[in-house]
Amino acid sequence: MAPVLILLGPPGAGKGTQARMLQEDFGLIQLSTGDLLRAAVSAGTPAGLAAKAVMAAGGLVSDEIVLAILKDRMAQPDVARGIILDGFPRTSGQAAALDQLLAESGQKITAAISLEVDDAAMVGRISGRHTCASCGEGYHDTFKRPHTTGVCDKCGGTAFKRRADDNAETVRDRLTAYHAQTAPLIAYYEAKGVLERIDAMGPIAEIRQSLGQIIAAIAA
Ligand code: AP5
Repeated sequence: MAPVLILLGPPGAGKGTQARMLQEDFGLIQLSTGDLLRAAVSAGTPAGLAAKAVMAAGGLVSDEIVLAILKDRMAQPDVARGIILDGFPRTSGQAAALDQLLAESGQKITAAISLEVDDAAMVGRISGRHTCASCGEGYHDTFKRPHTTGVCDKCGGTAFKRRADDNAETVRDRLTAYHAQTAPLIAYYEAKGVLERIDAMGPIAEIRQSLGQIIAAIAA
């Protein structure tokens, strides 16, 4: 059965950074509801128009909208290789809907991995974040700079962008939403016997290695 991995953690924990690396290391598909929603906002779809203000304010988009875009993405054939869910589920309703969606196709969650961090460090991580405008590779002003300043390591692009919701005030609201609505899912997956916890305060490469060990152990 293809693996279904969930990365749990507050804004800035490194879910996107590590999901992209796991995609490279293991050929799994990263499914980021944040990326899917930002694409819908850019495209001006009805879901994007409804989500835009909520995202800008650091709140959670409705389960109805998020589930609709996730189901569309999960209907595409590449997900048969196995998936890493990044930023989903975020509410108990989304977690129950995921269980049902997987059960309908004879699948189940392989592991939910909680990236454990100190909230205080997350504002700094998010304020320094930027991505390549061409390929989406993620960087940080201090912690992950391109090898050549101003040039993307991956594609050679020279334009970078920052997210509209990456400011200190919105990050605090996103952290509040995380603790109120998403952190309880850690106990939910612990009760199911699929929870793994890793310390995600260390260097990016070390966390990549820890995650790789967990996935290799699951696959063995
Ligand atoms: P989303 O895009 O999912 O954002 P988030 O959860 O707030 O998480 P981030 O992307 O900010 O953080 P990350 O953990 O991926 O960190 P990253 O790897 O980039 O959601 C955005 C919005 O969309 C939500 O607020 C909500 O409105 C909506 N939404 C999305 N999904 C939803 C859902 N399911 N339901 C309802 N609404 C939803 O790392 C951050 C920075 O730190 C980077 O610069 C990176 O280089 C650096 N970094 C990473 N790891 C380390 C490390 N170990 N040490 C030092 N620096 C590091």
